[in-house]
Amino acid sequence: MNIRLDGRTAVVGGSSTGLGLAIAEGLAEAGANLVLCARTAATLDAAAAGIKEMGVEVLAVPTDLTSVEEIDNLATMALEKFGTIDILVNNAGGPPSGPFDDLPEESWRHAVDLTLMSAVELTRRLLPAMRAQRWGRIINVTSTSVKQPVNGLMLSNSLRSAVVGWAKTLANEVGPDQILINNVCPGHTTTDRLEELAQAASSRQGLSVAEVYASWEQLSPLQRLGKPHELANLVVFLASDMASYINGTTIAVDGGRQQAMT
Ligand SMILES: NC(=O)c1ccc[n+]([C@@H]2O[C@H](COP(=O)([O-])OP(=O)(O)OC[C@H]3O[C@@H](n4cnc5c(N)ncnc54)[C@H](OP(=O)(O)O)[C@@H]3O)[C@@H](O)[C@H]2O)c1
Repeated sequence: MNIRLDGRTAVVGGSSTGLGLAIAEGLAEAGANLVLCARTAATLDAAAAGIKEMGVEVLAVPTDLTSVEEIDNLATMALEKFGTIDILVNNAGGPPSGPFDDLPEESWRHAVDLTLMSAVELTRRLLPAMRAQRWGRIINVTSTSVKQPVNGLMLSNSLRSAVVGWAKTLANEVGPDQILINNVCPGHTTTDRLEELAQAASSRQGLSVAEVYASWEQLSPLQRLGKPHELANLVVFLASDMASYINGTTIAVDGGRQQAMT
């Protein structure tokens, strides 16, 4: 199966490192032009330079996805440069870990902006172009926690489920315009975010970081962590014409961690 996305343009959130970068690289390898964003200009520029070398056009826009003004700027610049956007991958950093008692109201409000509203507001701005061309793909990076909660990830467990509810409802509304929306759910995957969570779990649980990683490896029947490109492969497929009848669904890439039967 040869997946090609030549002539398509994708916006990928949080794409200077980790899962977002792997997804951007996967889409570029299939021929898509890319709009990248993240808060830190230096790492964003380095990511953009690497992807340009793959022979596609790249626009990098430093953006804090918790700011509606900055989301507006990102969407405006993307549409000005490319005329339309075909593929939107909603992704950003994860909210802090911690139990309910350690999370004040500000943490909840910030997590709502980061995890839910960033997807809602970026989608709001890019949907008209997708509707006009009657073709679009929206893929939300959520977490295996929407199928089986991860202890200690109160904010992530709560707000990613909100993303899934929003996406399922929107899929029903924009399906007639031939815009497909799906969620992908990484399990424990080796990125900076995972390292941050390992450090936090190590302090909370009184285990070494190596012991935390070893315990996570055992959560999957494959007894190892995931690699970013293993999630990216699914996103590239979902973005392509190969996935033309996959809509409104939520797919785990977690090595089998989630124990529900379906
Ligand atoms: N890795 C895993 O095991 C795993 C598992 C399940 C779910 N997830 C979720 O998947 C998403 C991506 O995870 P990851 O592991 O790739 O994280 P990561 O390695 O920390 O990368 C996060 C990326 O998002 C950018 N970012 C962070 N906050 C942002 C903001 N406010 N506005 C714009 N960009 C922002 C970061 O760059 P800047 O810091 O420069 O902005 C970076 O490019 C997260 O939501 C994470 O919680 C990850």
